[in-house]
Amino acid sequence: MNHTPIDNARIDRAPIDNAPTGSTTSPEPRAWWKEAVIYQIYPRSFADSNGDGIGDLPGITAHLPYLAKLGVDVLWLSPVYQSPNDDNGYDISDYRAIMKEFGTMADFDEMLETAHGLGLKIVMDLVVNHTSDEHTWFLESRKSRENPFRDYYIWKDPKDGKAPNNWQSSFSGSAWEFDEATGMYYLHCFSKKQPDLNWENPKVRNEVFDMMTWWCEKGIDGFRMDVISMISKDPAFPDGEVTDGLYGDMSPYVCNGPHVHEYLQEMRSRVLSRYDLLTVGEAAGVTIDEAKKYANLDGTELNMVFHFEHVNAGETADTVLGKWGYEKPSMPRLRSILNKWQLELEGQAWGSLYWDNHDQPRAVSRFGDDSPQWRVRSAKMLATCLHLMKGTPYIYQGEELGMTNLHFTSPQQFRDIEEINAWKQYVVDNQIIDPDTMLKCFSAVARDNSRTPMQWDASTCAGFTTGTPWIPVNENYTEINAEAALADPDSIFYYYQKLIRLRHENPIIVYGRFVPLLEDSNTIYAYERRLEDSRLLVACNWTPQTRECRIFDSIPETGTELISNVASHEKGVLQPYEARAVLLP
Ligand code: NOJ
Repeated sequence: MNHTPIDNARIDRAPIDNAPTGSTTSPEPRAWWKEAVIYQIYPRSFADSNGDGIGDLPGITAHLPYLAKLGVDVLWLSPVYQSPNDDNGYDISDYRAIMKEFGTMADFDEMLETAHGLGLKIVMDLVVNHTSDEHTWFLESRKSRENPFRDYYIWKDPKDGKAPNNWQSSFSGSAWEFDEATGMYYLHCFSKKQPDLNWENPKVRNEVFDMMTWWCEKGIDGFRMDVISMISKDPAFPDGEVTDGLYGDMSPYVCNGPHVHEYLQEMRSRVLSRYDLLTVGEAAGVTIDEAKKYANLDGTELNMVFHFEHVNAGETADTVLGKWGYEKPSMPRLRSILNKWQLELEGQAWGSLYWDNHDQPRAVSRFGDDSPQWRVRSAKMLATCLHLMKGTPYIYQGEELGMTNLHFTSPQQFRDIEEINAWKQYVVDNQIIDPDTMLKCFSAVARDNSRTPMQWDASTCAGFTTGTPWIPVNENYTEINAEAALADPDSIFYYYQKLIRLRHENPIIVYGRFVPLLEDSNTIYAYERRLEDSRLLVACNWTPQTRECRIFDSIPETGTELISNVASHEKGVLQPYEARAVLLP
């Protein structure tokens, strides 16, 4: 065995004796959404029941037994509402209708009932920072300056004949669109077909709260709130910092704005407090201090938020490439971010745990090792590392199979408006980034990586559709698919199933206090959880080499191994990508 040198200064300190001391009891009251594991479905890419190449609601219903078998508690559906699909459903034209490609309201009701029958809760995506420009509110709003719906959106006069400020939208280009009809600009933080709602207008808030109530009355179990941190804008609308020579950064002026907490407290008192819901806010630009407000333990706003710090850890310092950075983030950097959130939220706010979702590349490709040799082992290691931390874990469809990035070879493969627009702005129109570099970036981090069809089996198109899929199927589907995973007792699927079961059976995984270990190691991510007198010891080797790690050397006989991704252990080391968790009662 080729043992690589110890690069881990504190390796021979006995963790149990040296870990920080303090209260081992958790102050949090119990709640079902703290004990749950959530599975995200991107309906467009999940399962197509009618051969049109687009996933749909009957496709989801047909696969609910698979999800029940996995053992998750809650399904979060990316938007299923009526939409012209400029941004795959995140541009809603009718909040009370189902997207025609996905089916009908009767299909939704059937899915909801079947899910509930299997003990699965349904969380809806609530996209209310913006609507589609095809929503009747906007169609009315743009008609005239006097229209009763005018103030549903954010309209500004031109400044010196140009846009009101220099903000760049999240999907490239100006965040302002000029509308000839009335000679004014409207704000769109995303595409120009996604005009931002004006939350300062009480009528807008009433409409949103009524619509949420309507869905709650239908029996849904919660909301994932899209870019909810962006609903209150800086009323001064100042120019942003220009880093790419083209546009200014709007984020300081649109994230965590002056009234956001007020609006969420109103939402809580008018809607959320009347139902038993899971609420998670997608909180672009959130800091730990802000998260403590959004997800405070008094429950005046949301249950928890998604932060972005760890998934942005690979961003480059290059002011142009920025978020498109393709470098793999180092484990110590990731660890310092994740540990900081674990420690700082303790006793103050509840957290969420995720590696990937429909806006991120595939976890095993980005943070693990998607080579044939290490894909399975590293995917299990990542799952262990995340699922045994404190917070509610989220699994993105296909993560439980170890699905990988698409590895783009040509711009013809892009479907996502964010990629299409960025390619045009940076490669075609301004030649700021060369095509090879941009393709390399997209291969690493583009959103389409996670939007390729769910790989159900080895038949044509991975069993996703009998037609032509709206986005290419990853070619590795003949090996990586659900049918193969279900037939292999050692598969990633069954490993996730076990992690979920362990969480349900062991309160220490939900409520135990998080204590970092081996914080100087460049290779081993280790931590402890503590609840009353029990301790859970977790260590993960983030490298493809065997690494020295002594934290399990001195565990007492009473210790029970809860889970590991290797069949047998070697004393004093962790094997490549080995993960191990031991409970000390
Ligand atoms: C965040 C969503 O997750 C993303 O997919 C979408 O493009 C933007 N918000 C705009 O709604």
